[in-house]
Amino acid sequence: MSMIYTELEAFVRARLPERRFQHSLGVVEMSRSLAGRFGLSVLDASSIGIYHDAYRYDCDDSTASYCRSKGIEVFPEEENDPMLLHGALAAAHFDEDAGGVPGFWKTAVRHHTLGHRDMGPYGAVVYIADYAEKGRRHLCDDQRNAILSCGTLEEMIIMIMDMQRPYFQSKGIREAGVSVELYEFLKAGGRLG
Ligand SMILES: [Fe+2]
Ligand SMILES: [Fe+2]
Repeated sequence: MSMIYTELEAFVRARLPERRFQHSLGVVEMSRSLAGRFGLSVLDASSIGIYHDAYRYDCDDSTASYCRSKGIEVFPEEENDPMLLHGALAAAHFDEDAGGVPGFWKTAVRHHTLGHRDMGPYGAVVYIADYAEKGRRHLCDDQRNAILSCGTLEEMIIMIMDMQRPYFQSKGIREAGVSVELYEFLKAGGRLG
């Protein structure tokens, strides 16, 4: 039986600095609203949202091999920047931390950083909420509203990836292979649900 949401929230609060915990609450709030709007479980989306960054400060050079030992595929961009593996690391710990959780919770948490065509609808929700929750200051209200006015989760992700691209380019960051694959999949009409 999984931990109830309030226990999971207390667990995450104890692991994270206040600012990151507040971000996590913001992700929960937006995830709840998206889940309600698109016919998904608000409780599942909340649990995924509160936990998604639980291992944000635990990655180091050993994380890639640890994730592989747990059967998680590690992408080249993650190998080069272990912080990107915090979703994978959280997925690896989710069962033990929460007393056994559904596979789709782990999948959603695992792919919230780079996105993935197999992240599922709950992965889409946490990805969008992670980028656009109300505490995020890297986008303005007009941009947030533009994302939320899209008719589908897939369109929202396309818009987010389009918004991120100039930033990545200005920083000389190359988009990860799995992210490009997700974008092309969505542009071709692929669905995550
Ligand atoms: Fe994250
Ligand atoms: Fe996050």
